[in-house]
Amino acid sequence: MNLRIENLTRNYGSVKALDNFSLEVKSGEFMALLGPSGCGKTTVVRCIAGLINPSVGQIYIGDQLVNQLPPKDRDVAMVFQNYALYPHMSVYDNIAFPLKMRKIPKQQIKDKVKNISQLLEIESFLSRKPKELSGGQMQRVALGRALVREPKIFLMDEPLSNLDAKLRTYMRAEIKKLQKKISITTLYITHDQLEAISMADRIAVMNSGLVQQIGTAEKIYREPANTFVADFVGSPSMNFLKLSIIESDYYNDNVAIESNGRDLQIPINKLPFKLPVEKNIIIGIRPRDILFLTNEDFNGIKVKGKISFTELLGDDSLVEIKIGIDESIKVTTTDISLDFTIGKDVTVGMPYDKIHFFEPRTGNRLVGLQSIDR
Ligand SMILES: Nc1ncnc2c1ncn2[C@@H]1O[C@H](COP(=O)(O)OP(=O)(O)OP(=O)(O)O)[C@@H](O)[C@H]1O
Ligand SMILES: [Mg+2]
Repeated sequence: MNLRIENLTRNYGSVKALDNFSLEVKSGEFMALLGPSGCGKTTVVRCIAGLINPSVGQIYIGDQLVNQLPPKDRDVAMVFQNYALYPHMSVYDNIAFPLKMRKIPKQQIKDKVKNISQLLEIESFLSRKPKELSGGQMQRVALGRALVREPKIFLMDEPLSNLDAKLRTYMRAEIKKLQKKISITTLYITHDQLEAISMADRIAVMNSGLVQQIGTAEKIYREPANTFVADFVGSPSMNFLKLSIIESDYYNDNVAIESNGRDLQIPINKLPFKLPVEKNIIIGIRPRDILFLTNEDFNGIKVKGKISFTELLGDDSLVEIKIGIDESIKVTTTDISLDFTIGKDVTVGMPYDKIHFFEPRTGNRLVGLQSIDR
């Protein structure tokens, strides 16, 4: 069953939590809704579940408009960060509870609880109380309780954020496997880009109540739609440099650009668009795409700078390079033979095919051979 959200707007007093928010999750798809704290993710989930009503907009489950349906008739299951199991009930009773509430015959309940607990590998502790379980086990019981009704839509709102890092990684894989096994249409809320990238078929990136981009993890990483997405997805974040075009020498196929007092040259055919002189642009490049240069031949923009900071990030080294009075860029490298002494002069290179171009006013990605106005 697919889930379609159209033009949702929701205010809390003067706070606009959702602003014309639209999203479609295909039948059986695992969609992650990724965005920073306060951007409106939980508000989306609460509207879908029917806990609150949107001020404007429609929610469809399959072909049915569900705006007017009470939560219990929407056939939506939810799992939250605090799994809120009933402490006085056994694991079995916790999972059976939603079925008992629906007056399902006893034998049928037994069968369904058995099936779901096999799926989640929790059969061996069905008689325990929640306080006798680990965090990961509790979270699996919460998943079982949500899924035992065989709902049409599965909503998870940061379900792993109470777990420690190791368990979180483990449960990420478990949830993904489970979702594929029962192929239930899933909307998974997170502010953790790694979680979104590792679990979801597609990701919707949102900010300030608005969808910024929807696509596969690869598409979002390789072709971010705007500077927000480019900055939010990827770790460490993309570097951004403000540039202005000071000369377009179309005869010599060169564009001279200026960045913070430095002149740089870019061949015209490396720009995805024609730029008028005095136009500002933003270029973005990921830390792992910048190279330390030793010889002069390089097919990209070269920049000189001084190492100002280094940090070891597991296999990668993060090196911060001061390239202007108030400008620095971050570079990551796995090459441990390099000398990263603070204060050392270095030349780094940004390959043309790794540079992203953005329009500074809107932050939107510049693509194709478009001309932009001043
Ligand atoms: N009941 C409420 N009354 C007033 N404002 C609210 C209420 N609930 C949420 N908000 C505001 O609406 C905006 C969106 O909140 P929401 O809970 O949807 O964000 P979120 O993306 O889930 O954030 P987080 O990642 O921190 O959980 C925030 O600015 C929040 O302060
Ligand atoms: Mg939230």
